Amino acid sequence: MKSTLFYSLSLLLTTATSQLLVLPPEDLLPAKSDRGDQRPLENMDPTGPGGFSLPPFLGGGGGSGTVVLSDVVGKERSINLFAGFTRDVESVSRRLDDKAQNSTVLAPLNSAVEGLPRKPWEDARDYDALGAQAYEGGGGQDRARRNLGRFAEAHVVPVSPWEEGDKVKTLLGDREVWWESKDGKKVIQPDNIEVDSVASKVGNGEVWIIKGVRNYA
Ligand SMILES: *[C@@H]1O[C@H](CO)[C@@H](O)[C@H](O)[C@H]1NC(C)=O
Repeated sequence: MKSTLFYSLSLLLTTATSQLLVLPPEDLLPAKSDRGDQRPLENMDPTGPGGFSLPPFLGGGGGSGTVVLSDVVGKERSINLFAGFTRDVESVSRRLDDKAQNSTVLAPLNSAVEGLPRKPWEDARDYDALGAQAYEGGGGQDRARRNLGRFAEAHVVPVSPWEEGDKVKTLLGDREVWWESKDGKKVIQPDNIEVDSVASKVGNGEVWIIKGVRNYA
């Protein structure tokens, strides 16, 4: 009787112990902060969520920790209308998310978007061709989405740093834009739009707040 009990107990213990050794469940281990600094291991994991990146002591920036344009474009209230468009337009949101491709985002102030004679997803040519119902029904929604896409793409310059006088086409691919200094201010040409400020500089580019809307039609 005694030996049977002993046997069962030791079997139980052995099973429990071997389970712990083989596969310690995460919640049985002490909290991460009590386990010492394990971050170098995470950074060296070539299959980690951020892909391969050099550990900080070899000059790496920490891969998955890199801040990109899509993280910061929504931070400034004064441009939150345009920030919303960049999220709604897939070509633009992918671009701002892409760590490998730099951009200079020309984000018009809300007041400039609100001051437009039409909504950014409206196009005078649609009204000319289709009348007042141009944006009704499924076809209308598609037209509106396409127009909003053109508006957003027309405000993303696919280079950063963007040097003064450097003529480039935006993501939309319409005529070239460049900028020049005037009285200590940056001015976007050929539309003569003043840059209010450079709101953010991150790993894949910069957000410039601009006081007007590009004329790209
Ligand atoms: C992209 O931007 C970063 C940060 O400003 C810069 O270090 C890097 O040289 C840029 N890459 C290209 C291809 O312009």
